[in-house]
Amino acid sequence: MNRRKQAIVTCSVLGVMGVVLALFGILLSVGTSVVIAQDEPPSNDDSFCVVCHTSTTQETYTLEDGTSVSVAVDLEVLAASVHGTSNPDGALACADCHGENKFPHDDPPAAGIREYRINQSNACISCHEEQSQNLADDVHYTALADGNLRAATCVDCHGAHNITPPDEPRSKISTTCGTCHKIIFDQYESSVHGEALFEGDPNVPTCIDCHGVHSIQHPTTALFRNRSPELCATCHADEDMMRQYDISTNVFDSYLTDFHGETVALFAQQDPNVASNKAVCYDCHGVHDIARADAENSHVIRENLLDTCQGCHPGATADFPASWVGHFPPTLESHPFLFVVNTFYQILLPVVLGGFAFLVLTDIYRRIRNARKQG
Ligand code: HEC
Ligand code: HEC
Ligand code: HEC
Ligand code: HEC
Ligand code: HEC
Ligand code: HEC
Ligand code: HEC
Ligand code: HEC
Ligand code: HEC
Repeated sequence: MNRRKQAIVTCSVLGVMGVVLALFGILLSVGTSVVIAQDEPPSNDDSFCVVCHTSTTQETYTLEDGTSVSVAVDLEVLAASVHGTSNPDGALACADCHGENKFPHDDPPAAGIREYRINQSNACISCHEEQSQNLADDVHYTALADGNLRAATCVDCHGAHNITPPDEPRSKISTTCGTCHKIIFDQYESSVHGEALFEGDPNVPTCIDCHGVHSIQHPTTALFRNRSPELCATCHADEDMMRQYDISTNVFDSYLTDFHGETVALFAQQDPNVASNKAVCYDCHGVHDIARADAENSHVIRENLLDTCQGCHPGATADFPASWVGHFPPTLESHPFLFVVNTFYQILLPVVLGGFAFLVLTDIYRRIRNARKQG
């Protein structure tokens, strides 16, 4: 073979090899994309996830602090949740909450179970804007921002795969709060409000009627205190509601006209953020342990009332509570002296004022008549 021939042969061999290589390259890329396509189902296809996340899988997810969580998922529970088959927008897919479908999961493991749950709660925010909007000044979310990881997130109050309507039955609302606020819940459960709630009463307050839900404010501020009589009044001044229980609605008006209420009402209007030391409803009745006014454990029953007053009037003696008329207008039996004085004034005032008016009117009449006569 001469050099020319040799060069042609080498070139064609190289060319063939190039073509073969190129073909192999194309095949390879097609091949891998076929493989990838198998691993990456169209989004919203849960079948890919549930191959591994069955309800019986023994696999666990191990967190940085060593705790491990089962990765079993019960599809029936998910389907029965508010995001399942009954959802008006159609059942949610795994990816709606967990993001892009991909395996292996390459996110670094969370530091601990609280960090994991708080992080997962962010998935709720994208769809539930209304509930998320007020969170900026919510007690739980400010506590979380301050590093208190025990504070409640969406998932603590609602669950994750098992979310059901949060207010069915209505008592579930208070039970939810009670999972963390145990001591308060126990008091509340046996209070006049709590007891009725668990008997199915639709009118008594749950935790959120007094505190709010997604924008809970600190209840120990001056603002909350000054406005609290209005809060109790939303129900206790409601004639239609209170008639059903034979409870007086005069409690609010009588409070406003007494020496405690007048000042608090003024503060609430003019300086809502300035603390007032005058009694509000719950100083006398208690907060989470409010009882029927005539119950043995009531803070306002005669036997306990002095203690209640002494909380602020340390020098008060046994007859001190009588200095306050209570919510009811004095009667001849309850406060004879006051009743007599009141009645006396009720008669005296109209008589005196009426007399004056009569004198003034007759005087005007006489003057006009005289003027006419002279004119
Ligand atoms: C091949 C099996 C397999 C497939 C397919 C799979 N997973 Fe997983 N998944 C696991 C295993 C194993 C773990 C636990 C350890 C880990 O993270 O690798 C896990 C952990 C998780 C976790 C908890 C840890 C984390 O990163 O939040 C979630 C959530 C999760 N998977 C969701 C999904 C979703 C959604 C899909 C469908 C897109 C899916 N998985 C597909 C096996 C799988
Ligand atoms: C409504 C949103 C939502 C949907 C839909 C959803 N998840 Fe989850 N998932 C969550 C949340 C929130 C958590 C965190 C739960 C926690 O902290 O206990 C979670 C946790 C997990 C975990 C970790 C183990 C555990 O129980 O904490 C796995 C695995 C998982 N989900 C898989 C799936 C799979 C598979 C699907 C689809 C079949 C799915 N999820 C659908 C919200 C969702
Ligand atoms: C992809 C959007 C989407 C995501 C993500 C999502 N939800 Fe929903 N959620 C809905 C839709 C749609 C409904 C049904 C319509 C409605 O009632 O607002 C619903 C209903 C609810 C309800 C019942 C509302 C009612 O009136 O009874 C609750 C509670 C709820 N979601 C909480 C959550 C929580 C907690 C998370 C996070 C774990 C979450 N959602 C994640 C879309 C979503
Ligand atoms: C401290 C407990 C708590 C937290 C935290 C919480 N919720 Fe709620 N949520 C409730 C309760 C209780 C209700 C029932 C309210 C009612 O019946 O008036 C509710 C109601 C809802 C509803 C039904 C519609 C409505 O507004 O009444 C949705 C949707 C919802 N929450 C989503 C969320 C999302 C998303 C988050 C997180 C960003 C969240 N919630 C955080 C306790 C909570
Ligand atoms: C997951 C546990 C958890 C759940 C559920 C929960 N909370 Fe809380 N809550 C906390 C923690 C933790 C704090 C912060 C306490 C602190 O700052 O010292 C807090 C703070 C509060 C505060 C402010 C207390 C203060 O001292 O100023 C109120 C009010 C409150 N929660 C009411 C509720 C209500 C109402 C519900 C139910 C709708 C509820 N919480 C559900 C854990 C929870
Ligand atoms: C009738 C209204 C009412 C109801 C119902 C109610 N609270 Fe309160 N809560 C208050 C008031 C008022 C305060 C402030 C008390 C104070 O300043 O001493 C308060 C204080 C709190 C505090 C702060 C306690 C502290 O000392 O820092 C928490 C937490 C709380 N409530 C949780 C709950 C929970 C949980 C429920 C339901 C089980 C509930 N509340 C039911 C009115 C209510
Ligand atoms: C959401 C409505 C609602 C709110 C808010 C509310 N209550 Fe009540 N309250 C009721 C109802 C309804 C009853 C009757 C329950 C029954 O007798 O079964 C009741 C009963 C009572 C009783 C017992 C009356 C008796 O002697 O029979 C007292 C005391 C009381 N509430 C005080 C308060 C105080 C103080 C507040 C404010 C801190 C308050 N309530 C806030 C609805 C409310
Ligand atoms: C200075 C203490 C004190 C304050 C403040 C106070 N109460 Fe009372 N409350 C009592 C006493 C004592 C009774 C028992 C009946 C009586 O003597 O009037 C009572 C009785 C009641 C009753 C039962 C009425 C009935 O028909 O049997 C209700 C309801 C009530 N209070 C609600 C309130 C509300 C709401 C407020 C605030 C607007 C309030 N109270 C403020 C001391 C107080
Ligand atoms: C939360 C604290 C608090 C509670 C509880 C309380 N008071 Fe008062 N009360 C005050 C304050 C503050 C004044 C105003 C004192 C002043 O201006 O010198 C006042 C004023 C009075 C006055 C007007 C006469 C005076 O000393 O100025 C009477 C009467 C009175 N209280 C009776 C009662 C009775 C009766 C009770 C119990 C049923 C009671 N108080 C419970 C804080 C309270």
